[in-house]
Amino acid sequence: MNKLFLIAGPQAIPADASAQLQANKFSGEDGQTQRLTQGDGTTHLYVGVGSDGQPDFWTGAKACQKGSNLGILEVQNPSALDEEHLQNFALSWLLESYRYGAFKEAKPAPVLEGFAFSDQTRALAAGMGLARDLINTPANYMRPGDLAREARDLADIHGAKVEVISGDALAAGFPLIQAVGGASGDGPMAPRLIDLNWGNEGPSLTLVGKGITFDTGGLNLKPGHNMRLMKKDMGGAAHVLGLAHMIMALKLPIQLRILIPTAENSVSQGAFRPGDVIRSRAGLSVEIDNTDAEGRLVLADALAYAAEGEPTDLTLSMATLTGAARVAVGPGIAPYFANNDDLTWQLLGASDSKIDPLWPLPLFNPYDSYLQSDVADMVNSGGGGFAGAITAALFLQRFSQGTWAHFDVYGWNPEPKPGRPKGGAAQGLLSLINFLDTWSR
Ligand code: BES
Ligand code: MN
Ligand code: ZN
Repeated sequence: MNKLFLIAGPQAIPADASAQLQANKFSGEDGQTQRLTQGDGTTHLYVGVGSDGQPDFWTGAKACQKGSNLGILEVQNPSALDEEHLQNFALSWLLESYRYGAFKEAKPAPVLEGFAFSDQTRALAAGMGLARDLINTPANYMRPGDLAREARDLADIHGAKVEVISGDALAAGFPLIQAVGGASGDGPMAPRLIDLNWGNEGPSLTLVGKGITFDTGGLNLKPGHNMRLMKKDMGGAAHVLGLAHMIMALKLPIQLRILIPTAENSVSQGAFRPGDVIRSRAGLSVEIDNTDAEGRLVLADALAYAAEGEPTDLTLSMATLTGAARVAVGPGIAPYFANNDDLTWQLLGASDSKIDPLWPLPLFNPYDSYLQSDVADMVNSGGGGFAGAITAALFLQRFSQGTWAHFDVYGWNPEPKPGRPKGGAAQGLLSLINFLDTWSR
């Protein structure tokens, strides 16, 4: 059988392989890898984890890359690592093993056989995988109705409850979601609000995720190159569902609510228009300056809904909301805005800058004036090219209540990195589950 050896520095090199490993300058340094074919045709994969046995988080992913085509590997000397580093190695391996193979056979990932993955490791990998799968699924297979089905499937696994508001009830109660979904279509394409609830102990947490299953820009149509990746515009929904899986699988003592407003932002005679004024669920009137600033509209009605009834201890929104956030921080950082300084610092404290960085941006209130409208309480976009991500966050702030943070994520990896394959990406979830673990106790 193929074997994976964890080697903590030069002293830990096994005698029988030492000559060959030395010839290849393998010393067991963190991240080093070496494959040696054995006399019986099997392969030994040697992976350096450093003399201190504290490898970088991504070493497991590098090992997995090197193990390609090996099929099943048996882990040797796992005691080279303490339990925490061993589980991190395994998690990073699993994150690299991810494949999206719905429409084309994917190269199988090597498998760690007989390895004792902790429940936590499995829950984190599965949550990340769920978010990636949802984003990677093409928009013709991930319609608003499909997103609702995904939420129901997740709820069934964990004993959560799902309510979906659509049709007349949506039109009557959620005017902004209805407006954005005006050109979305009927049946599985129809806009809706997904409301998932789970847990009855601990503090209350509401996660709101943008579920635009495709963003053409609407009548303010995007040029082709800007539209190309817009199947990922339900990335916020994918993030909150992935995070929900982690929370529920780990049984964190949290009263969890997930709200996902979902629609396609498309073009037809039903489309909303620049200059339209819509009275939102919260009663505030919004003048549409640009139909491509649709995410903040659907989130506004969902945030207003979240603010009704019993106060929530914490509300987090996640969305692929602005191109400006992409320009500001790129695809490797999950930028956030918090309306409370303690929360800003708690999130930053929980952020692991090398694994899954969160980074605060300012909710700079003076720019609120960018949202002034001549005819309504606000416009949905403004600022004339200044501070696009901040302006979007300030728009949302007008509808949120209580302690709130908003994540403007990119949701996509343009180029592969260890443990982070090209394509749909979940950003900030490992740091957020770390934050919530502390927050919930
Ligand atoms: N979904 C986009 C934002 C986006 C674009 C995220 C590219 C990641 C990559 C959003 O709906 C949008 O179109 N935003 C506009 C807002 C503008 C019209 C005020 C943008 O950022 O250009
Ligand atoms: Mn848009
Ligand atoms: Zn969008």
